[in-house]
Amino acid sequence: MTDQARSEAKPIPFIDVAAQRRRLGSSIDEAIARVTTHCQFILGPEVRELEAELAKFCGARHAVSCASGTDALVMVLMAKQIGPGDAVICPSFTFCATAEVVALLGATPVFADVDEATFNIDPKSFERAIAKAKRLGLKPKAVIPVDLFGLPADHDALADIAAAEDMFILDDAAQAFGATHKARPLGTFGLATATSFFPAKPLGCYGDGGAILTDDDELAALLVSLRVHGHGKSQYDNVRIGITGRLDTMQAAILLEKLKIFPDEIAARNKAAERYNNALGNVATVPRIPDGYTSVWAQYTIRVEPERRADLAAALKAEGIPTAIYYPKPLHRQDAYERFPYAEGGLPVSDRLAQEVISLPMHAYLDEPTQDRIIKAVRGAFGA
Ligand SMILES: Cc1ncc(COP(=O)(O)O)c(C=O)c1O
Repeated sequence: MTDQARSEAKPIPFIDVAAQRRRLGSSIDEAIARVTTHCQFILGPEVRELEAELAKFCGARHAVSCASGTDALVMVLMAKQIGPGDAVICPSFTFCATAEVVALLGATPVFADVDEATFNIDPKSFERAIAKAKRLGLKPKAVIPVDLFGLPADHDALADIAAAEDMFILDDAAQAFGATHKARPLGTFGLATATSFFPAKPLGCYGDGGAILTDDDELAALLVSLRVHGHGKSQYDNVRIGITGRLDTMQAAILLEKLKIFPDEIAARNKAAERYNNALGNVATVPRIPDGYTSVWAQYTIRVEPERRADLAAALKAEGIPTAIYYPKPLHRQDAYERFPYAEGGLPVSDRLAQEVISLPMHAYLDEPTQDRIIKAVRGAFGA
């Protein structure tokens, strides 16, 4: 590419939230106007409406909306009274919130390795992490599998192990709401599923937001109490320690509009992923979706040789193409988490992936000419 052509190359967004905003147009403005007209900013009618729609979308009995994906995770652990002496198994190759909520409550996150092909928790390492927790005198109470980059974890294998150990599963579907395992949408695997509506997520709002999906009536009732300071019969009847964990009515109103186009967006993401896979499969290790699973492609992440990754990122940057590294350091190597135990034998896959992964622009509005530009640049960087 000549210098002139390079300077003319329009920068490509990593995630094009503005394109979605243009598509939704006045429907968002009208949804916001409805809220500013009725003025029920806290737990207004849109919150209940959204919860009903989310539950219907994934076939869960209950959806309890909340202020973030992190709150969704912490509230479930609070409801289950997780605390000091308890171990909660988490993959190391994930966003910090997965383990942060465990540590926040004084419990111990015990890290497990992930599977090389799916980037999700490896059931064998999960078993080793349980053994490690027991050896340390901790009580393994739960596992938080993460459906990383939009792909569900191996929920069948995890359910068997968790059941044998009398542990509950809190699925961290912050990146994967809308994905399926054996035609069953995430939201009904394990005791509860936490998701995030952070703007960059496949289903994102215009700020922070989250939700918990569960079939458990008792848990749902506890979560409703926990998200408003542990209220009992009324707001000023405090029966347990809780948090300010509500989803704003405004965000619920926005999400209701976005949910209408979400299935169409998932299809568009899958089409883009397939085009990437077909075009890049012979220059990098591309993500393959195992049989019986669907992904919502929160990220499109390839693997390259560690010594080539920085050059690839630089070559793409020079052409106005952003990339991201999710995640440059697994959690068991992070300052805040390195004191916590991990499965015997170490976590070699998490360590390796942190050196090799690189994510390309991915969203539902990635048109073919733009994607072709990215593909050409990636192939060009590999001399293909
Ligand atoms: C795997 C995972 N878990 C939890 C979270 C936390 O969600 P939030 O940012 O809404 O608190 C995120 C968000 O980035 C995430 O990617």
